[in-house]
Parts: sequence; structure tokens; C-alpha cells
Amino acid sequence: MGQTYPDRGIAVITGASTGIGLELTRCAAADGYDLVIAADEPAIHEAADLLGEHGVNIRAVEADLSTPEGIARLIDVIDADGRPVELLMANAGRGLGHAFLDQSFDDIRRVVDTNIMGTLDLVHRVGRQMREQRYGRILFTGSIAGYIPGAFQAVYNATKAFVDSFAYALREELSDTGVRVTVLMPGPTETEFFERADLMDTKMAQAEKDDAGYVARAGYRAMMNGEADIVTGWSNKLQTAMASFMSPESLARGHRKLAEPGSGLS
Ligand SMILES: NC(=O)c1ccc[n+]([C@@H]2O[C@H](COP(=O)([O-])OP(=O)(O)OC[C@H]3O[C@@H](n4cnc5c(N)ncnc54)[C@H](OP(=O)(O)O)[C@@H]3O)[C@@H](O)[C@H]2O)c1
Repeated sequence: MGQTYPDRGIAVITGASTGIGLELTRCAAADGYDLVIAADEPAIHEAADLLGEHGVNIRAVEADLSTPEGIARLIDVIDADGRPVELLMANAGRGLGHAFLDQSFDDIRRVVDTNIMGTLDLVHRVGRQMREQRYGRILFTGSIAGYIPGAFQAVYNATKAFVDSFAYALREELSDTGVRVTVLMPGPTETEFFERADLMDTKMAQAEKDDAGYVARAGYRAMMNGEADIVTGWSNKLQTAMASFMSPESLARGHRKLAEPGSGLS
């Protein structure tokens, strides 16, 4: 799949224990990359066992990537490997349902720290190495949620607006360095995301969703081809196109219908 480099580096994937991240990891393993994978829970070790069949070397890191300490632990493992990072997939992220004022501020902070601060910290460190080595690919998992003010998932959608926007800007800054940046923007995808975000009684959680493997393969392919972005699926493409000419106020109103607690019960 796509171009590789003479001194093959490793692939680093965050949020690799489940969902889209696990499937991105599968793509890189099938492509023969040795891997460093990270997530917050011990399940990351099970993911490493699961992918052993590909015959690549896998190091699993259990670290809370919403904290500087967690990012430092991941960096230590990458540095100990000694090889350059060729692929970085900054995928770890979490959602958070309910009205902003009803959410706990600790939970809000965790979403921001995981989706934004941890992502920036990791990309800042690995990105510098990539710029120096003059090659590498970075894939951000953003979201079509970044196009929509997300009433009843307001903080999450705002973090994804940040990630989507940041990815394009970084891509431009690195355009003459040999480092390519891609943003994967999935729509609703069948993963543990909705349960973890306490969204299960919403219309959004009960709607038809894309398969995580399909989403990840599209994202991986776009990254390997050096594309700027990928919105997976035609209905999601249509939704992002429509979002560009609808008022933010009406987008937020539409989001309420999908994400308000209890909206999926009727
Ligand atoms: N599912 C969707 O509909 C959808 C749509 C658009 C974009 N996305 C984005 O896709 C990405 C992957 O989500 P998913 O849908 O695959 O959900 P998921 O199955 O819940 O996977 C999330 C992954 O991120 C990890 N993670 C979360 N917080 C972490 C932290 N503080 N430190 C380390 N790891 C952490 C989780 O590991 P632990 O279990 O160990 O915490 C897990 O491996 C996220 O960025 C999400 O925003 C999802």
C-alpha cells in the first residue's frame, strides 16, 4: 500500500485497543510494520496478542494519553525502540454525552486533554523527529462532528473541530519537509465510543453506523497516498457538504435531535 522508505520505520497508533484504532493497527500490521500501540486500559495487551498473527513486532503501552506522564511513557517506548517513526496515527479519543452543564468538569477536562492536549503533545514530539528525518506520515482521527456544533455533545464536537482544523494547518506547515499529514473524518462508526460517552439512549447511538474496519482501511489508504483528508461514506460526505451552507444555529438544533438524552427512546 503506497510508498515506503528505504529504512523502514515503525508505526505508532494510539487508541489501538478497540474500534477504529484497532483496525488501523490491523492495516499497519498487515503491511508489515513493527508497531508501538497505546491505550489507557490493559486491553491494549490483548490487542497486541490478537495482532501477533501478522508476525510483526508489537510493543503495547498502557498509558493515559490525556496526561503529560502518559505521553512521556509512550515516547520512552518509542525512543527505546531506536528506529524512526514512519507512521503516526493519533487516534485516541473519547466522547461525552449530556448537556454541558450536567457533565462533570473532570469528565470534560479528560475529553479535552485526551482529544486535544495529548494529541498535540504526541504530535509535537514525534513530528519534530519526522521533520528532522524528512519523512513520515501523520494520520489524525478527526470527525465530521468537527463541522457541527454538537448540542448535547458540545465539548466533544468542539475538540474534533480543533483536530480537523489543526491537521490541515500542520499539513501546510510541513508541505516542504517530506512529512505528510492526513485527517480521517468518520461519521458514526460501530465501536465502543457511544457506550463510553453515555450516549446509548440517543438517536445517534441507535442510527445505522459504518464498520470500523471499513473506516480504518479508508483512513490508512488516504494516509499512505498522502491525501489531505478522507470523509468516509457518501452520506457523511453529503452531511459535511450540507454543513457548509447551513447556519451553525440550525446545525446545533439538528444535533440536539440526535444527541439529546432520551432522543432514541421514542
Ligand atoms: N465511533 C464513531 O462514531 C467515531 C466517529 C468519528 C470519529 N471517531 C473518533 O475515532 C477515534 C477512535 O474512537 P472509536 O470510535 O474507535 O472508539 P473506541 O472504541 O472507544 O476507541 C477509543 C480508543 O481510544 C483510547 N483512549 C481513550 N481515551 C484514552 C486516554 N486518555 N489514553 C489512552 N487511550 C485512550 C481507548 O482506550 P482505553 O479503552 O484504554 O481508554 C480506545 O483504544 C476517536 O478519536 C473518536 O473521537 C469516532
